[in-house]
This record gives sequence, C-alpha cells and structure tokens, in this order.
Amino acid sequence: MTDAATAPTATPSSLTLVRPDDWHLHLRDGAALRTTAPHAAAQFARAIVMPNLRPPVTTAQQAVEYRDRIMRALPAGAAFEPLMTLYLTDRLPPEEIVRAHAAGVKALKLYPAGATTNSDAGVTDIRKAYPTLEAMQKAGMPLLVHGEITDPDTDLFDREALFIDQKLIPLRRDFPELKIVMEHVTTREGAHYVRDAGKFTAATITPHHLLYNRNALFIGGIRPHYYCLPVLKREVHRLALVEAATSGSGRFFLGTDSAPHAAHLKEHAVGCAGCYVAHAAIELYAEAFDRVGALDRLEGFASLAGPAFYGLPANTERITLRRENWTVPESYPLGEAQLKPLCAGETLAWKIVRD
Ligand code: DOR
Ligand code: ZN
Repeated sequence: MTDAATAPTATPSSLTLVRPDDWHLHLRDGAALRTTAPHAAAQFARAIVMPNLRPPVTTAQQAVEYRDRIMRALPAGAAFEPLMTLYLTDRLPPEEIVRAHAAGVKALKLYPAGATTNSDAGVTDIRKAYPTLEAMQKAGMPLLVHGEITDPDTDLFDREALFIDQKLIPLRRDFPELKIVMEHVTTREGAHYVRDAGKFTAATITPHHLLYNRNALFIGGIRPHYYCLPVLKREVHRLALVEAATSGSGRFFLGTDSAPHAAHLKEHAVGCAGCYVAHAAIELYAEAFDRVGALDRLEGFASLAGPAFYGLPANTERITLRRENWTVPESYPLGEAQLKPLCAGETLAWKIVRD
C-alpha cells in the first residue's frame, strides 16, 4: 500500500517546450551539410555554428558565405537560423569585429592552438588577442571558450581545471564585462566557477557529459564513439554538471557540441574527437533531466537561458516530446562516408513529435 507521501511522483508522458536552440554546434561544410543541417533544423530554431573549418572562418565575409551554404542545405520550408561565429587567432584585426558585428556574426570562438580538432590556427597566447577582445567587449560579442590548457606534460583529465586557474581567471580580470561562455563544461571546477561568476559568464553543457562518465570510453573495450574533447570525466564531475543544468540558473544552457566525423576515422589507431548527437539531441537531454526528476527545468535550460544570455528573444514556436521508445539508426551518411551517432542501435525513451 502506498500513501500520498510515499507514492512515486507521476512522470509525464509528454512535454511541450518553447522550441530550443543549440548554442554550440559543428555542422562542417560541403556534402556533410546535407546530413547535419537537416538534423539541426528538425530540432532547433537557431544554432551557434562553430567556425573550425579548414581553413577556419576568420572573416565576416567567410561567415556570411558559410551561412549561405548552410541555408542551401536545409530542407524546403525549414525555419532554421544559423548564428555564425568567427575563429579567434592571435592577430584577428579589431576592425574585423566591427565588420562581423555589422554582418550579424554573433560570437568568436577561442581554440587554444592544438587543443582539439582543427585548432592549429588557434590562439597561442591570449594576450596577443587583447586588442580584438577589447573590440568584442565594446560590441557586446561573446567569447566562446574551449577551456583546456594544451601543455602536453599535464594530465588530460586536469586540463579544464588548470585552464580556469591559469587562463580564465586572468582573462576575466582584464575584461570584466566581456561575455564569456565556457563551452562544453565538463568538470565540477568548471561548473562551480561559472555558478559563482558574475552575469557576464555562462556555460554550455552537452548531452553526453550529462549522461556518461569516463567509464563509457572503456567498458568492455575501447569505445571511440564516446571520445570527445574535453574528454568525459569522473562521475563526481558528471553529477556536478547535472546539478548545474537542472539548477534553474540562467547561466547554464544547451549546447550539444555535436561533432560529426566519419566512423572509420573514429574507429582508428588515432581516432578523431567528437560525438554526433544532433540526430537526437533534445531526446538525450530529456533523458538526462528525466533521470533526476527535473523535466520541469528542461525548458529553462534548453530554450530560455541561452537567448537571454545572448540578448536575443526566445522562440515563439513550441515542440512536443512524447515518452515513446524508438531505436536510433546505426548510421547516417556523411558525404561519401558514414557517421555513427551516439546511442546507435540503442533504444531511447523520449521522441520529438514531428508535425
Ligand atoms: O570533441 C570535439 N570535437 N571537441 C572539439 O572541441 C571539437 C570537435 C570537432 O570539431 O570535431
Ligand atoms: Zn565544439
């Protein structure tokens, strides 16, 4: 017998939200867009599009041309707005910030040189970019940070926490009103830094860092499709990320870091970093929130906090998720190659209702 005090809370069978946005997304270019752009547009109204192409997107003109290629890859009638970013280098001219701002570019991405995929042209010393950061602070354009130090002698699992102490704290001191987003935050240190920082600091959190800890990389054998950067961390960090995402704070929001790579390049002696989650992003977040009984917090995280931080209006349309088992496809085309999505062949419990 159960009474009201001990009965399990009823779990909803459907959930309607303001249409979410993805504040950190890799779409790539060329033929890959035929897969990545429709997946993003099926879920999100807008997405912050990462600039780590080869060569990287470093001018307003390149960003506008890239936006046009994305638009051409969308299915007819799709209402999706790519929000473009530039790739920060040591010497990006401050005048380019003015041009980019005028062209509708929304932010700049800081890749410490050598930190991750296509980061060779990234920043070698953030102080070299100070004139550019001045212009961004003035224009109100956020700096999106890949927060890992690159010193090869440091433990890979410590690189985010070290970045905060060595790079982020001095940067924040020198630019008190620069909007900074710690992209794909993965540690308790990162989550607590953002929680305790002022209103100019925020973080995105991926679905995979909410759902998995580093065991996922190694259980039963090495599992390259769980490998991304920053790498999955210990359970204590995952729990801190879940707490941050479900806290109701406006400074943590959805950013999938969906990063497609051909499966054969991930299943390789030196496998590429990146998890593909765009095929089921909101479903994976729903799973993570549902597991801790926090579905009522999903809309704030997925649909409201991001636009508020960027100074944009929230979307007006809505989406509905239904509790319904479905099986994730084993693969999707990626140009001539195949990509293996996260949870390939697995059953998920939430499904977006397609109109
Ligand atoms: O795992 C990752 N993949 N992390 C990044 O920072 C870049 C991304 C990519 O572009 O593949
Ligand atoms: Zn990324």
